[in-house]
Amino acid sequence: MTQDELKRAAAEAALEFVGDGSIVGVGTGSTANFFIDGLARMKDRIRGAVASSEASAHRLAAHGIALFDLNDVTTLPVYVDGADEIDASLAMIKGGGGALTREKIVAAVAERFVCICDASKQVEALGRFPLPVEVIPMARAQVTRALAALGGRPLLREGFITDNGNIIIDVHGLQIARPVEFESTLNQLVGVVTNGLFARRGANTLLLATPDGVRRIDAD
Ligand code: 5RP
Repeated sequence: MTQDELKRAAAEAALEFVGDGSIVGVGTGSTANFFIDGLARMKDRIRGAVASSEASAHRLAAHGIALFDLNDVTTLPVYVDGADEIDASLAMIKGGGGALTREKIVAAVAERFVCICDASKQVEALGRFPLPVEVIPMARAQVTRALAALGGRPLLREGFITDNGNIIIDVHGLQIARPVEFESTLNQLVGVVTNGLFARRGANTLLLATPDGVRRIDAD
């Protein structure tokens, strides 16, 4: 199977988690796009969706799925999204597509985070994928120095501005032994909006697509 076929298989499996009459939290990226396309087939059974990026909002709207503002929603039964890396505790690195801040906000409102991945995203320790950090533009140099002091190799994502008007610094060469603690440490850096570690609020369920089928793994 190709990687895209695996991504689609994980996304299709996530449709089982969508309840009739619900508003669905929707992530961003190529795997989430397969989920959006699947959601379109059942759009008459749901009220609509909250999108985690402008790109996902456009795709949802193109399918005729109603969009809700997160501020008008108290809770979401489920948030479905991909990841760049996921470990055994279902902590993740996200933000390869640059949507980490809105993803983290929508995920925070959701009762269940369902992560959809192909098996290449499963890792023993997070950090091989460069950790995205969204930063207020005027803090770029200061945050870059602070990230280097924490042991990483920060690189500005050239030519990229987030949906929130900020920049992304990708931190290479990290070995993240304690994701929960490291997520908090990064949150304390003045000028950092969000970092791509999703450990404090990891996934509740992983749907991992392998050539032998989609495996469901639930957090403890
Ligand atoms: C976007 C993300 C994506 O979920 C992550 O980059 C995975 O993307 P893909 O499904 O295309 O492999 O965090 O900000």
